[in-house]
Amino acid sequence: MNNKMWAGRSSKEVDSRVNDFNSSIKFDSRMYRQDIKGSMAHAEMLGDCGIIEKSESEKIIAGLKEILADIDSGKLQFDPNAEDIHMFVESELTNRLGDTGKRLHTARSRNDQVALDIRMYLKDEIDEIIPMIRELIGVLCDIAEKNLDTIMPGYTHLQRAQPITFAHHMMAYAQMLIRDIGRFEDTYKRMNKMPLGSGALATTTYPIDRRQVCGLLGFDDITMNSLDGVSDRDFCVEMCSAISILMMHLSRFSEEIILWSSWEFKFIELDDAYATGSSIMPQKKNPDVTELIRGKTGRVYGDLNTLLVMLKGTPLAYNKDMQEDKEAIFDAIDTVKLCLTTFIPMLSTMELYKENMRNAAARGFINATDCADYLVKKGLPFRDAYKITGTLVAYCIKNQTVLENLSLDEFRELSPVFDDDVYEAIKLETCVNMRKADGGPAPDAVKKQIEFARKYTK
Ligand code: ARG
Repeated sequence: MNNKMWAGRSSKEVDSRVNDFNSSIKFDSRMYRQDIKGSMAHAEMLGDCGIIEKSESEKIIAGLKEILADIDSGKLQFDPNAEDIHMFVESELTNRLGDTGKRLHTARSRNDQVALDIRMYLKDEIDEIIPMIRELIGVLCDIAEKNLDTIMPGYTHLQRAQPITFAHHMMAYAQMLIRDIGRFEDTYKRMNKMPLGSGALATTTYPIDRRQVCGLLGFDDITMNSLDGVSDRDFCVEMCSAISILMMHLSRFSEEIILWSSWEFKFIELDDAYATGSSIMPQKKNPDVTELIRGKTGRVYGDLNTLLVMLKGTPLAYNKDMQEDKEAIFDAIDTVKLCLTTFIPMLSTMELYKENMRNAAARGFINATDCADYLVKKGLPFRDAYKITGTLVAYCIKNQTVLENLSLDEFRELSPVFDDDVYEAIKLETCVNMRKADGGPAPDAVKKQIEFARKYTK
């Protein structure tokens, strides 16, 4: 005999291999809180609408409350043989309440139930992820505040390009993270629609009150089409893409930290607590955390791809394929939280080698643009100024020197407009301080960027 809750039609016990294959309790049990809260709201509505007796609705709610407390305290363990969290909670309730427990699933399907649970679960996770991003932005602002004058080379093509400051560099990441917060907030808005009442696919004939459930569960509205209500997983895709983009930012940042902590750069040194050694090479100090973040970014992109591909061929409405949404989105969530949890203290304890940054900025002719701009300000067309400066750079390379060390005569050999003030014009400090346009590296411009970013730390 089939002893499943949905037994009736079926005459045989489901093959144990199918049972295991079908079961999602291993991973969806993490939604038990949301599942129980959703059921409590549903039971309350059923009672208020006269679909079940008020007294039964009260018993169900009390029973669910106890189940929640028992799971929280560890007194009640998940049954690995249960098909999923929904079946587990319902059968536990029935064990405890008998026939009354069997009334809970009136006017409901697991299809709208799971659509509800996952929305509630993801909303809760967004509420945890956003504060972590805020904390990271705060750390960036702290570092930036202390390094408004820390000159470093800015790069394009990983070639030294123009001088910037470490503060300016940090605030670039703050901007990315601010956009990340926006993406999570947008996702939240769209997932904040209550699907319960969609039923299996076509609502129900009972006189339910979807708006009551919506209000009880703190959603801002109900879903407007029952087919869509049960088959929509856009919000999982959206959330996973928001996570993927955040991971991409963390990964680019990690790549820079890996470069900066190499002997070739030595701009920074990670705290010993956030680096690891080698089992054979005694001198090694490896930036494993950042490498793992870079690596795990690929894994999160995989999760996003899983969701997109899982959905692309599924007809309306619910299909079991959609059970696969959970492992993917849960993995992405766990991964990004783990990365943020490690990355934040790693960043805040990192030591800066300002001397090395400055020395790197002093070589590589990153003031060449400023030298050309100097000539332009003296009246030369930019293309001529560019060519003269290029020739000067070639001359410096040949003579193993830098622009600042050329004599005025050497400068003047290429253009008579060069004067004593060229030395001031091509000093690194001048190069940075003159770039005071909004968004630029000049300390005052970066201060404004910090002030802006600080708003997102609360
Ligand atoms: N465990 C299922 C899931 O996660 C719940 C919904 C099951 N619905 C169904 N019609 N079999 O998708």
